[in-house]
Amino acid sequence: MPLTFPISEYSKRQSAFLGQLPSNSLVLISTNPRSIRSNDTHYPFRANSYMLYLCDWDESDSVWMASNSTGEWETTLFVLPRDTKAEIWEGRRVGPEGAAKYWPVDKAHSIMDLSEVIRPLLGDCSVVFSIAGLNPEIDALLNDSNIETANPKSYLDQLRVIKSEAEIEIMRKSADLASEAHILAMREGNPGVGEWHLQSVIESCFTSNNAQWAYPSIVGGGDNAAILHYNTNQESVKDGDLVLIDAGCEVQGYASDITRTWPVNGRFTDAQREIYELVLKSQIAAIEVCRPGARWVEFHNAASRVIAQGLIDLGILDCTLEEAIGDPNDFDGPYRNYFMHGTGHFLGLDVHDVGGGRQGDDDPGPKLMPGMVITVEPGLYFGSWRTDVNIPERYAGIGVRIEDDVLVTADGPLVLTSSCPKEISELEAIIGQEG
Ligand code: GLY
Ligand code: MN
Ligand code: MN
Repeated sequence: MPLTFPISEYSKRQSAFLGQLPSNSLVLISTNPRSIRSNDTHYPFRANSYMLYLCDWDESDSVWMASNSTGEWETTLFVLPRDTKAEIWEGRRVGPEGAAKYWPVDKAHSIMDLSEVIRPLLGDCSVVFSIAGLNPEIDALLNDSNIETANPKSYLDQLRVIKSEAEIEIMRKSADLASEAHILAMREGNPGVGEWHLQSVIESCFTSNNAQWAYPSIVGGGDNAAILHYNTNQESVKDGDLVLIDAGCEVQGYASDITRTWPVNGRFTDAQREIYELVLKSQIAAIEVCRPGARWVEFHNAASRVIAQGLIDLGILDCTLEEAIGDPNDFDGPYRNYFMHGTGHFLGLDVHDVGGGRQGDDDPGPKLMPGMVITVEPGLYFGSWRTDVNIPERYAGIGVRIEDDVLVTADGPLVLTSSCPKEISELEAIIGQEG
């Protein structure tokens, strides 16, 4: 299988990472373990994103190592050895010879030789950079050796969070494909449609384009739209209800993440329109803030201010804007009863990508920089079953989230998912209509 990027892209990443580490360190990056679904059935394997980032190796049971015991960095991949009998059952393997020849590493070994190769190196190095919990063999070796260990994530994350031109090109494809899938689902809108049917339309668009979902698709009609992590997708969407679809794909390892909410019968009611327009206004205000130099928390605060004022204007909150927002550092006021998540996250090899930035606590987070890709996804949720807060009858059963993927550029925010409609007039012209 060809590499996602030219070898030079990986060499650049490896040098940028290793160049920051103290001399005499050893780096061990393991891939994820395979996960059992039940009994002897596994989930399809998906490699750890750090492994993909450094060398694009996507087979299970592997370790990327970098050692500078000789004064020069030397990289090694430990991989599953060729084994015809195992390959008949589980699939072809590249093996150490192919790995050394075609992948961006200096050497390769069988994973069976891992301890034997690493043990002598431990005596020579002063610190080992390794992510604990991924590889029990490495964890045991390090525990037994009393050697100083450190987590390499902070070094790698500051690299991963700024996307190269080549990465942005793939992320554009991922965003375009997810947009296309959402439009296909909108065309299938009609009263009584199954959540599962809309899911299948979305996901068959992914798979028929040689992509896959980046996270389990959320397709929630009516009250289900107000369940943030709903993904059972087994109910029909009733006439008059909104459906919320949060679905994105993974193209060559890179995720997109889009949410659209629309009336299944093709027409927003007045109450649905009021909430939808408020969320859309807050999303547009938040996107506008996504410029170099803005603090991570600022686009969340921008969305929150619009939402809080809108809830007051609609009579859902009976207080001043300051009271609705709460602590000016935390934004923890009663608007959070209806908008309880952050406004976005970094996006890349992982849907919730590295780079930090939790919103809704008092950490202002990192500053936005050109090359960062983030989601902007405010929402409002009025699940009719809720007993924790007042749910006005007019809005009961409404859940709305609007989510786009945004590239921060020197010239301002660039919405990668702009081909996915979100204006009410655009949605109403598409829902239930043949393309
Ligand atoms: N789809 C997960 C999220 O929007 O964060
Ligand atoms: Mn998201
Ligand atoms: Mn999402």
